[in-house]
Amino acid sequence: MGERIPLTLQTAPPADRWQRSLTDLRISVVDRCNFRCPYCLPEDQYPEHHPFLDKRERLSFEEIERLARVFSGLGVRKIRLTGGEPLLRRELPLLVRWLARVPGIDDIALTTNGTLLPRFAGELREAGLRRITLSLDSLDPAIYRQLAGHRGEVGEALAAIAAAEAAGFTALKINTVVLRGINDAGVLDLVAHFRGTPHVVRFIEYMDVGTLNGWQRDRVVPSAELIARIAERWPLQPLARAASHDVAERHRFADGGGEIGFISSVTAPFCGDCTRARLSADGKLYTCLFGADGYDLRALLRGGASDEELAAAIAAQWRSRDDRYSERRAELRAGGNEARVEMFAIGG
Ligand code: GTP
Ligand code: 5AD
Ligand code: SF4
Ligand code: SF4
Repeated sequence: MGERIPLTLQTAPPADRWQRSLTDLRISVVDRCNFRCPYCLPEDQYPEHHPFLDKRERLSFEEIERLARVFSGLGVRKIRLTGGEPLLRRELPLLVRWLARVPGIDDIALTTNGTLLPRFAGELREAGLRRITLSLDSLDPAIYRQLAGHRGEVGEALAAIAAAEAAGFTALKINTVVLRGINDAGVLDLVAHFRGTPHVVRFIEYMDVGTLNGWQRDRVVPSAELIARIAERWPLQPLARAASHDVAERHRFADGGGEIGFISSVTAPFCGDCTRARLSADGKLYTCLFGADGYDLRALLRGGASDEELAAAIAAQWRSRDDRYSERRAELRAGGNEARVEMFAIGG
């Protein structure tokens, strides 16, 4: 890390139509998941035989590493590995090791449901992974199970946290998607559990990603409501975002018990600062989480394109980027614009 980027790979960093640069790349390494969270990959929509991508359709580690170098040349500094469940991709620590050597990339993170962390946390750390975000929607065993689509147990998520800590990931981000009437009553329990630890819980407003989750606006709990509920018990003080393009609004406990975050894509969209690109496991480039079509980088890679040609193609996609879905949600939904990539195919 921290090496100079070879001159041949440097192209002028592109800005999109709203002057947003490209600094973060989220790479989905596999579209499979061992959970069936109803807000992402609901069981009844995806029975056991659903055709997920096969090995040849997915980008190889060599292809991912090559693209990471090209993205780095365009200004990307941070890579987050996602899925589906990224740890279902065999030998993920090897990919981390390769990515950690890409000049210009100074942060590699992983978003996981944690079930496989006890097996891989040590290897991931050793390979150069810097940060882990773990999904944990409830501490109540029955509600946790329900939100994992009956494929996971809360004890496994807690074991994942312990394994991550033991491997040296001292401050985790904990993601909680909040659904009214399902897990919102457990929010204070989650806050109480992680207060006083270095881990930061982030409450995420339930989003209308993909087409399968049967999104209902009245299931969304606005962050402002949660903030008021939490502050009544533990007074909070707002903090500045860690970086302007971060998705979470931060608050600290007035008594020094640490911090919590809120990701409010429905009630307080943050498209204006969105510097994230997403790569699906089959090599499509999406410039928005709510995009309908990705740009097929795999076809270029497998068709023999040079690094310069790849960089030019990505830069052209970014320069023409106009996405602001969350800011335009009402208008776009009213217009019947329903085509959207699925969450599990793009990793959130
Ligand atoms: P870092 O900034 O790398 O720490 O990660 P992160 O907080 O973006 O990662 P994480 O995977 O934990 O994302 C948290 C939640 O925010 C997930 O539910 C994402 O789907 C959501 N999210 C992340 N980026 C975007 C975005 O660009 N737009 C919207 N609408 N939601 C996003
Ligand atoms: N709304 C909000 N967050 C979601 N996630 C998955 N689906 C949704 C949704 N519909 C979250 C997961 C994970 C992160 C990458 O995205 O819980 O923490
Ligand atoms: Fe799997 Fe994450 Fe989607 Fe849940 S939210 S089904 S853990 S990819
Ligand atoms: Fe970025 Fe699209 Fe999310 Fe807006 S809705 S923050 S443009 S990914």
